[in-house]
Amino acid sequence: MRNVTQAALFNLSEEPSAVQRKAGVTTERLPRLDSNPQLRPKLLPFCRLAAGDIWEDPVKGHRVGVLDATVPADVKRVTKGEQATLIVNDPPYNVVVGNANTPNLSKTHICAYVEFSRRWVENSLAVLSADGSLYVWMGADYRDNFQPLPDFMVLMRDYQDVIKPRNLITVRNQRGYGTPCNWMWVRQELLYYARSKASFNVAAEYTDIPKVLRGYYKTVNGVVTENMERSKSENIRAGNVWIDVQQVFYRLEENVSGCYAQKPLKAIERIISASSSRGDLVLDFFSHSGSTLLAGERLGRRVFTFDVDPVFAELTIRRIENYRLTGKTGWQWRNPFPELDRQ
Ligand SMILES: C[S@@+](CC[C@H](N)C(=O)[O-])C[C@H]1O[C@@H](n2cnc3c(N)ncnc32)[C@H](O)[C@@H]1O
Repeated sequence: MRNVTQAALFNLSEEPSAVQRKAGVTTERLPRLDSNPQLRPKLLPFCRLAAGDIWEDPVKGHRVGVLDATVPADVKRVTKGEQATLIVNDPPYNVVVGNANTPNLSKTHICAYVEFSRRWVENSLAVLSADGSLYVWMGADYRDNFQPLPDFMVLMRDYQDVIKPRNLITVRNQRGYGTPCNWMWVRQELLYYARSKASFNVAAEYTDIPKVLRGYYKTVNGVVTENMERSKSENIRAGNVWIDVQQVFYRLEENVSGCYAQKPLKAIERIISASSSRGDLVLDFFSHSGSTLLAGERLGRRVFTFDVDPVFAELTIRRIENYRLTGKTGWQWRNPFPELDRQ
């Protein structure tokens, strides 16, 4: 395992100056990692973990591994017999993202994709507690019969005796693609499955959007009340269409340049707050930029996560180290591998 000095990794002087910012300097310092094969050999020497390795967090007990979600032995290696209250998995969607079919986000035949999904689903259920919840991000490609979303939903029926669907959440995706002769592709689907004893903290569902609608009159104890009087909150609930979540892009602090499939912290924090409690164990089998780990750290959960790619495992570890050192949730347009700039 390679030793890196933290201070060397987080050089804040790399931020654009005020003048550059005003001029709109927004270029990310790393190109999309999965589609740049020439970059991989340059990054690998800076990665602490190789295939099979696990980083044990000395501060909060998190774990990050370079492991394969489809291999039962790999999942056991990281969980070491512990069961999780919550699993948040964001596998590749079997779509070609941004016109690049890459090893990390690749497109295969739908039958092979369903088989891949079956393997990681079974590995997930093996380590999910009796009161556990499973959230799965999943895409649908309208240019290819909307696969794989419906195929995945049908696959999950095979497990309905042990876990049931509870909701289908749509998260607004402003960065979506579209054409002038179609609606913009503006959504990401989030499937929510739960064991029968799973708990749900409804307080986590409130947004920061104030209620505007009055009405819904109802008589309570002989008194006519309106909506606001009966309500527990001044704000609206998120429901299952999350319009208040901003997709991550390069102008946000949480952006991790080089990552093409990063999920918003706000969405993952909502999931964690709703479906787990402080001190619980949360798992994520497809770590990528490490959003679930960071969300868990911020909310007092332990997180075990892994990615099959050592570069993304390294980014995950760096992201939490960066957060602890600087309070920043990502690198925005700075380089998470500043060693590259110094070469
Ligand atoms: C869609 S991204 C996950 C994004 C993540 N939720 C985030 O917010 O950054 C999918 C990740 O899964 C990883 N991956 C692909 N196949 C895998 C496997 N068999 N086991 C573990 N990770 C895998 C890819 O390297 C990629 O980083």
